[in-house]
Amino acid sequence: MEFLDNIVLPQSSHHITLLKYLLGLTLLLLAPYLAALYGTLIYSIYFRFKARKGDHKYSQLAKDIIDVITFNKSVTFALGVVPMLSAIFAYTQLLHMTNAIVPTFMVLSLISFLISIIFIYTYKHTLHLKDLFSAVQSDDEKIKDDVQTYKSKAVSLFSRTGNWGLVFLSASVYFFIAGSQLALDPERWESITSGWLVLFTLDSITYFLHFLSASLAVSSAGILYYYFRPSSEVILNEDQKNYTKKFALTTGLIFTIIQPVFYALNMLTKPKLALSAGVFGVSILVIFTLLVISNLFYIMLKESNTKFSSSLIYLFVVLFGFYVVKENLAFSTASAKQSIILADNFNKYEAKLKEEFGLSNVVISGEDIYNGKCIACHQFDRVLVGPAYKDVLPKYEGKKEDLVKFILNPVRVNADKFPAMPNQGLKPQEAEAVADYIIQKYQQ
Ligand code: HEC
Repeated sequence: MEFLDNIVLPQSSHHITLLKYLLGLTLLLLAPYLAALYGTLIYSIYFRFKARKGDHKYSQLAKDIIDVITFNKSVTFALGVVPMLSAIFAYTQLLHMTNAIVPTFMVLSLISFLISIIFIYTYKHTLHLKDLFSAVQSDDEKIKDDVQTYKSKAVSLFSRTGNWGLVFLSASVYFFIAGSQLALDPERWESITSGWLVLFTLDSITYFLHFLSASLAVSSAGILYYYFRPSSEVILNEDQKNYTKKFALTTGLIFTIIQPVFYALNMLTKPKLALSAGVFGVSILVIFTLLVISNLFYIMLKESNTKFSSSLIYLFVVLFGFYVVKENLAFSTASAKQSIILADNFNKYEAKLKEEFGLSNVVISGEDIYNGKCIACHQFDRVLVGPAYKDVLPKYEGKKEDLVKFILNPVRVNADKFPAMPNQGLKPQEAEAVADYIIQKYQQ
């Protein structure tokens, strides 16, 4: 992704910190949305699969839940596409001057995401189309046949779009994860510059499994909330109600309980450079939240009610918050050295710019100028080509301007004893600096 490197501007250490916050914010929007979309799509496809025997409650569920998560295209844009673009931007900036191919993974993730979105929306519409066909009742044999034919065509189309949507969304999720895990391992930045095998590292795989279980758990909570929150207006018959409740509670419990397992596996496979006390601290909060969530699922399952369906949503938001903070801390730790390199690069870049615009703020050192330009002809207490400073400086006492004037434009003073002093071509600031220096040194 050479072209990405070209858009990079050196960043000051202040900006680097800001960029890391931006990355955190980005993930805070992206992670829960992606998880909900992913889990919901998996469930919807599962229900559609069960619905093929003709049980209406499954097809209703398949359609309902995909409708909820895709209710508005601009949400998909704001919570999916925009954060992915900012992640690409942030990683490109933060990993500038390394060979890490993190941004490449992120771009692949975005492309897969866009493709998956097209499939998912098609899938959603074909589910509606199928319903429509089923609703059309006609006594005319010819129309009935036609409707039947279109229906089966639509069915095969929608089943495929759903699957393709899932394939591309999985790819998108996986690319993103592989990229962000690679970003945590400076040792791999230089060694891994191409090849597909690098995608399948242990940390990426365990993280993916963890994300998958988190997606399914949060989607179960979403289903509960959608159908059973106190203000819910969806009307279900008894059979649908019982099935949906039991399904969401069971899957929610299972996928919450297995999260710590994948989480721990991921921590074990994470590069050492990414671990810090902060990461472990947040991990404790993560485990605690998971414990609370699984307890709520368990209580509801046991009592066969849905009284915590709203609280669960909040808890999941908190949980994802912790996940993101942990990732961000890990990245900050892992990239600490890189950030210093970048900040240093910025300073050089800034100095160069200033020089180009004649704003150089390089400190002018009188001592350096004396050592570089004057020392050949002048000592403080000995005559060389020119007079000793101790002999000539007294007359400049309290008259620095005159001294500066002389240095800038030497005139003949003592033609009997000395040749003329050649003009040293100093700039006014430099002349002043060297004047200060020799006066100060002479007075000592
Ligand atoms: C190539 C030799 C040479 C170099 C280099 C040189 N000078 Fe001189 N400087 C002279 C000579 C010769 C004189 C005596 C000139 C005269 O009396 O007409 C002199 C005289 C002076 C005087 C005395 C002026 C006076 O009023 O009597 C000062 C002060 C001085 N130089 C400062 C400097 C400083 C500061 C630099 C470095 C930026 C410098 N010179 C570099 C040769 C040199």
